[in-house]
Amino acid sequence: MIAMYQLMDGKLVSQSVKDRIRDEVAVYREQGKEITLAVIIVGDDPASRVYVNNKKKACEYVGFRSLEYALPESTTQEELIALIHELNGREDVNGILCQLPVPKHIDDKAVIAAIDVKKDVDAFSEINVGKIMIGDYDFLPCTPAGVMEMLKYYQISVEGKNCVVIGRSNIVGKPMAMLLLHENGTVVMTHSRTQKLAELTKNADILVAAVGKAKFVTAGMVKDGAVVIDVGMNRDENGKLCGDVDFNSVAEKCSYITPVPGGVGPMTIAMLMQNTLKAYEIQNGGTAE
Ligand code: GUN
Repeated sequence: MIAMYQLMDGKLVSQSVKDRIRDEVAVYREQGKEITLAVIIVGDDPASRVYVNNKKKACEYVGFRSLEYALPESTTQEELIALIHELNGREDVNGILCQLPVPKHIDDKAVIAAIDVKKDVDAFSEINVGKIMIGDYDFLPCTPAGVMEMLKYYQISVEGKNCVVIGRSNIVGKPMAMLLLHENGTVVMTHSRTQKLAELTKNADILVAAVGKAKFVTAGMVKDGAVVIDVGMNRDENGKLCGDVDFNSVAEKCSYITPVPGGVGPMTIAMLMQNTLKAYEIQNGGTAE
């Protein structure tokens, strides 16, 4: 039997999100208003460089101004925080993002804490994380919000479904569980110390893999007809980009599955654009009209 699965196309869905934002931004631009995202990158991690370039490209597409601050690896925490404070104080800067990871001698928590919560378009600050927990938020956590947007686009209801999240990072796993919970999913959070993981994942109607291990999720861990979302971004043994899901064996068991690349990745960036627009609107007292 050849099972049919549908690919969840992150390029297509993110394009529709960015087009909507572009239309909204055009209204502001006609009024001579400019929306600006400041992107900080410290050191020369090649993956971070690719992400930052993609974020800048997305800014250009939707009509934002982007400011890049590419700082050397040797930058001190004090210097980085001084830059963030300067950007916090600039009225012409609406969003601030420091690409993670930062070099080891810098405490990422201190960096995140330095960003003005009204400009924290990653939604990483304690206040914004707290708001996500309560379900009353200004900024959406970009990657989990991108996953929710894709589910919505493909009309996949979360209500009452068994949702299993693998991975408990502050950036993806934890906020992902919260967003699924807010949509009335029954959420199980799993991680590297979880016992009998496959027994839990086999029960998932919606399985989100955010572990950071190449091809970690295999066919034996997946229920027939499941929706599988792959947040991973890894290199396989041949250096080829791959996700946390062993796509070739898992796909045929799925009703829907995201590819890597071209799945969740582009969605994350689209949601960052949405947050930047929101930041502008919060700082300028409302929406265009
Ligand atoms: N590193 C990996 N993902 C992200 C992200 O969404 N935002 C930032 N700032 N850094 C990251």
